[in-house]
Amino acid sequence: MIIIKSKQEIGWMREAGKVTGYILNELKNIIKPGISTWDIDHFVEKTVKEHGMIASEKGYCGYPASVCTSVNEEVVHGIPSKKRILREGDIVSVDLVVEHHGYMADAARTYPVGKISEEAQHLIDTAEKAFFDGIAFAKVGYRLSDISNAIQQTVEGEGFNVIRDFVGHGIGSEMHEDPQIPNYGKPGKGPRLQEGMTLAIEPMICQGSYEVDVLLDDWTAVTVDGGLAAHYENTVVITDGEPELLTL
Ligand code: MF3
Ligand code: CO
Repeated sequence: MIIIKSKQEIGWMREAGKVTGYILNELKNIIKPGISTWDIDHFVEKTVKEHGMIASEKGYCGYPASVCTSVNEEVVHGIPSKKRILREGDIVSVDLVVEHHGYMADAARTYPVGKISEEAQHLIDTAEKAFFDGIAFAKVGYRLSDISNAIQQTVEGEGFNVIRDFVGHGIGSEMHEDPQIPNYGKPGKGPRLQEGMTLAIEPMICQGSYEVDVLLDDWTAVTVDGGLAAHYENTVVITDGEPELLTL
């Protein structure tokens, strides 16, 4: 069942989303060669606390950190570590959930570490472009898979692939609510979009095969072929007009 949110619930998510977006924007200045993924976790945990909010990933299904940091061939759910030092040419995906009054906002970006290859930058740019091409359909009158299809078209049109094992999702007082939102599929399927739906739309894409494995830490998902992966996510409200993005 897809939960339609009230004005007040959306208001709390908007507050959570502002802090999420602020942190993701600040990270552009923090992520550089020589820092560790733990440094990212530390900044996130501290900044969320300073705003009187909660970083909800910590403890979710036993997840041990405040943020996910996934480097290069890691797709999602990489665990921050003092030993994982970022090096020039790496890319790192940061995925964050902030909670305020029990309501959540979820967003992710992939960052370059120093100077990166043209191909890596193209992958990062394509994840973002796919998100925006997808949300062109995040309006009353379309169906859910119109978003999925638009994302897939963009990603494959740029010569990359869409990860199948992870999907976007509804979000609110739970991190993962109905509906699931695959980043691929035929258009015109699934529920009709309605005002007050709150959706985490999140293209996860890769250079090569979309097959993924989970490492022995039980969390980190990597591409099996070792190709790079990128992630771009925002929490989106369906309105009576253009979608509202809570986490920019
Ligand atoms: N934020 C992720 C998502 O986009 C979920 C992270 S799982 C967690 O849905 F365990 F790290 F919280
Ligand atoms: Co999400």
